[in-house]
Amino acid sequence: MQKFLNFTKASSNVSKKYQLLKFKACGDNKGWLISLESSKNIPFEIKRVFYIFSTQSDVVRGKHALKKGNQILISICGSCKVSVDDGENKEIFNLNNNKTGLLINNMVWREMFDFSDDCVLLVLSDHYYNEDDYINSYKEFLKALENDRNYQI
Ligand code: TYD
Repeated sequence: MQKFLNFTKASSNVSKKYQLLKFKACGDNKGWLISLESSKNIPFEIKRVFYIFSTQSDVVRGKHALKKGNQILISICGSCKVSVDDGENKEIFNLNNNKTGLLINNMVWREMFDFSDDCVLLVLSDHYYNEDDYINSYKEFLKALENDRNYQI
C-alpha cells in the first residue's frame, strides 16, 4: 500500500486493519473538487461504488464484516459515525468531512450510526456485490478470526 503516493495517511498504526485517508481537494473560485482514482489515491482497483442516504438517525447499518472485500467510506455530505473492530483494535470514527475516507480492510466488523439527515455516505469497494462475502453475526466473526489465527500458527 506504501506505493500509493497520492494520499496522506492520517493515522499511523499499521497493525490496524483500518485507517483514515486524506484526499487532496482542488479549490478555486468555482468551488472544490476531489478526484478518486483506482490504484492512485484509492489503494485498490475500484469494482463497485454505492451510496447510502436518507438513513434515520436512530438506525444502525452495517453490522457485518466482509471475508474478502476492502472498502473506503466517505461522507460526501453531512456526517455519520462508524465503529470498527478488527478483533484487536476497536475505534469509533466521526466521518464529517468529504476530504477524509475511512479505509476498512476485510475481516473488520463495522457499524454505521448517528446519520445526519443530509448524510450521503459514499462507499468504494474492490469487490462486486456478493452476499456470500458477508459475515452477519458478531459471534461468527470472532470465530472466523480465531480460525484464521490458528491457521497461521
Ligand atoms: P445492506 O448490506 O443491508 O446495507 P448496510 O450494510 O448499509 O446496512 O444492504 C441493503 C440492501 O442493498 C440489501 O438488500 C442488499 C442490497 N445491496 C446490493 O444489492 N448491492 C450492494 O452493493 C449492497 C452493498 C447492498
